[in-house]
Amino acid sequence: MKTLMPALLLLAMGSAQAAPIAMEDQSQLKVPGTQVTPQFVPPAESAIPDNAFGKMIREGHALFVDTRRLMPDAVGNGMNCSNCHLDQGRMPHSAPLWGAYPMYPAYRKKNDKVNTFAERIQGCFSFSMNGRPPAADSPQMTALSVYAYWLSTQAPTGVEIAGRGYPEVPKPKDGYDFKRGKQVYDEQCAICHGGNGEGQKVAGEYVMPPLWGRDSYNWGAGMHRINTAASFIKYNMPLGKPGSLSDQQAWDVAAWINRQERPQDPRLVQGSIEKTRLKFHANDGVNLYGQKVDGVLIGQGIGG
Ligand code: HEC
Ligand code: HEC
Repeated sequence: MKTLMPALLLLAMGSAQAAPIAMEDQSQLKVPGTQVTPQFVPPAESAIPDNAFGKMIREGHALFVDTRRLMPDAVGNGMNCSNCHLDQGRMPHSAPLWGAYPMYPAYRKKNDKVNTFAERIQGCFSFSMNGRPPAADSPQMTALSVYAYWLSTQAPTGVEIAGRGYPEVPKPKDGYDFKRGKQVYDEQCAICHGGNGEGQKVAGEYVMPPLWGRDSYNWGAGMHRINTAASFIKYNMPLGKPGSLSDQQAWDVAAWINRQERPQDPRLVQGSIEKTRLKFHANDGVNLYGQKVDGVLIGQGIGG
């Protein structure tokens, strides 16, 4: 309710200036159905300048690909930023940093305010990394922003460039099916992500990221939406074979993954899953939080 009020109020007041901004979520990653081939090429690693600025770029890069090890206080699960933003944040259709950086500051429905780039990254720390975001003016946050800024060299600002986000995969006519999703998972995903979505570790460190359970993204993360996960999966998974799944398979397997338990939504309202569902999940794409599947309540949370 609280998050909806300002937009509704502004509408009621007929404020010509504020209403369109408040209604439209600029950060929602929607690329129209017709695919435009990404043209933008971020600078090569060899182009990092050999000076203080270049040192910061390298630091930001290190934090992005080795987040859990380098920022244990900020990360509460087994993930690195680059697990979902592939090829070190460079891959088109994998929410690349060069598609993101030039689009901020931007209004986000999720927290109903204009977010700076640092605030957007903080969101991924809270939810995707199930952690505690570092301060916006911390050295780590500056390094991450510098890395994203540098990758965006010569990209236009305020223009949605091809390759940003994940292209939308339309919901199949007949929805999704858990049984088929499990089959896709067992046949094409379990070999890397484990039979129970637990990922794989070597010497205590993840080499394959978990997809559910205590070390995965939490119930507030964008990836918990079946539509978002289907888009990521269709364009990025199985690793090395992007685009090989049908839309139906991508939705089925995304639904299977997102019916499994994971850490609780940190925005939990008064300890109530139902209140949290109503406030944060009822209008957040396609998701199962707070719903019953085969008689089991989804969204109870795990670990903690
Ligand atoms: C579990 C997967 C996952 C992890 C881990 C993750 N992200 Fe994200 N990130 C997403 C998804 C999904 C979106 C799009 C969210 C949406 O549509 O609401 C996103 C969006 C973003 C955006 C905005 C993209 C745009 O085009 O507007 C930035 C910037 C970003 N993430 C940075 C990071 C950083 C930095 C980290 C590590 C601290 C990180 N992410 C970790 C999944 C992840
Ligand atoms: C060959 C191994 C491999 C296969 C097969 C594979 N993945 Fe992945 N997957 C990865 C790796 C590695 C990453 C992290 C990428 C990185 O860090 O560069 C990843 C990342 C992910 C992520 C985002 C990170 C996270 O942990 O949430 C999801 C979701 C995902 N895979 C789903 C799938 C699905 C669904 C399938 C089957 C259709 C699949 N993967 C098949 C290796 C694989």
